[in-house]
Amino acid sequence: MPDVLSYSLADFFYTDNPDVLSPPEDFLEWINHPRVRQCFSFFEQQLLAAPRTSTEILSNIDNKRRKIINLTSYNYLGLSSHPEVIQAAKEALDQYGLGASGAPLLSGTFDLHARFARMLADFKQKEDCLLYSSGLGGNMGAIQGILRKGDMFILDEKCHKSLVDGGTLSGAKMLFFEHNNPDSLAMMLEKSRGKRVMVAVEGVYSMDGDLVKLKDIVEVCDQYKAAIYIDEAHSTLMFGPNGRGVAEHFGLEHKMGVSFGTLSKSFGGVGGFVCSNADLISYLKCYSSPWNFSCASSPPVVAGLIKALEVATRDSSLRDKMWQNVAYFKKRLVDLKLDIGQTESQVIPIIIGSSGEKLMSFAWEIQKRGLFLQPVDFPAVPAESRRFRISVSSQLTQAEMDEALNIIEDVIAKGLKS
Ligand SMILES: Cc1ncc(COP(=O)(O)O)c(C=O)c1O
Repeated sequence: MPDVLSYSLADFFYTDNPDVLSPPEDFLEWINHPRVRQCFSFFEQQLLAAPRTSTEILSNIDNKRRKIINLTSYNYLGLSSHPEVIQAAKEALDQYGLGASGAPLLSGTFDLHARFARMLADFKQKEDCLLYSSGLGGNMGAIQGILRKGDMFILDEKCHKSLVDGGTLSGAKMLFFEHNNPDSLAMMLEKSRGKRVMVAVEGVYSMDGDLVKLKDIVEVCDQYKAAIYIDEAHSTLMFGPNGRGVAEHFGLEHKMGVSFGTLSKSFGGVGGFVCSNADLISYLKCYSSPWNFSCASSPPVVAGLIKALEVATRDSSLRDKMWQNVAYFKKRLVDLKLDIGQTESQVIPIIIGSSGEKLMSFAWEIQKRGLFLQPVDFPAVPAESRRFRISVSSQLTQAEMDEALNIIEDVIAKGLKS
């Protein structure tokens, strides 16, 4: 196979191999090629301690433990290892054991789950909330539960896979509008006249860090009486005067029909939650498979998450620190003349361009220098805008930021000039 790096996962999805247990032969040839194996070795590198900003990995480069500055984890507020969160989870482990041992409907709902769901509904100013054991499962389950064959599901083209998969599972017809473009959305809504319609957007788009243009989107949706589903995976606890997310930031929470969040990012745990009106939540309890046919979240995790919500909302100190770090990073990256796109959040891309070779060689070099900053390649992002993606955390110290930025300057900024 010549020029192996010009291929990507997008090339091997379909197969004419009659044996369903055998992946396509050209896929196997590609993925086993030494150059491709080297690229894939960036994935599944093992973290050997908490996803703090300074931690340790078992590097796939040389199979050695390596101390690294971590700009890859979504632990935006450092809550995954906050001492109060750990203590709450430890106590719950002693009282409740490890697993919930049942689906929420039958035996998996503990007092912890009920309390946390209530706290989240109140926090998001909705009537009720459903907790899922996975964020992806939450999006898939909510959309599958709400929409039916014959309905229209209209998504921003940059929406996460979990929203798209939810649409597929529901049987609704899916249409995609141009990213953040209200005119394009209006065209799709025009095509959907006479149908039940739900529009999906994200608070912060996870590959670019830009925000939904919510005022424009709401205006168009109001015109067509379309319901809005907002995924605030990367914005909850960080945006808005009270940390409730981008809808709060724009003063438009009351316009959101469904507000989704994940518990794996700023919350530092795992799981998803869906907030909406009480009738819809009780309907979802009957028709959302990832909720009623899957084990509930582990009780110690839920106890840790309750504490995480308390810590993150009792004052604004964690998100204030995170925003200070974001401002510092952005300024230094712009000073280095790096392309950080249109980010308005703690997700900061460094866009390299179309060269897969450069992306991978920079990725190797920065890791050897002690920086954990993962490459993002096509088809996860467009082929002409391969990138690194920084997750800024409140935990980053000045020394960690300066060391990370020195490595970025030496390897990426200088490498792009040469
Ligand atoms: C926008 C968005 N929604 C949903 C998810 C799924 O969340 P989780 O990883 O907690 O399953 C992600 C994960 O990256 C995401 O970025």
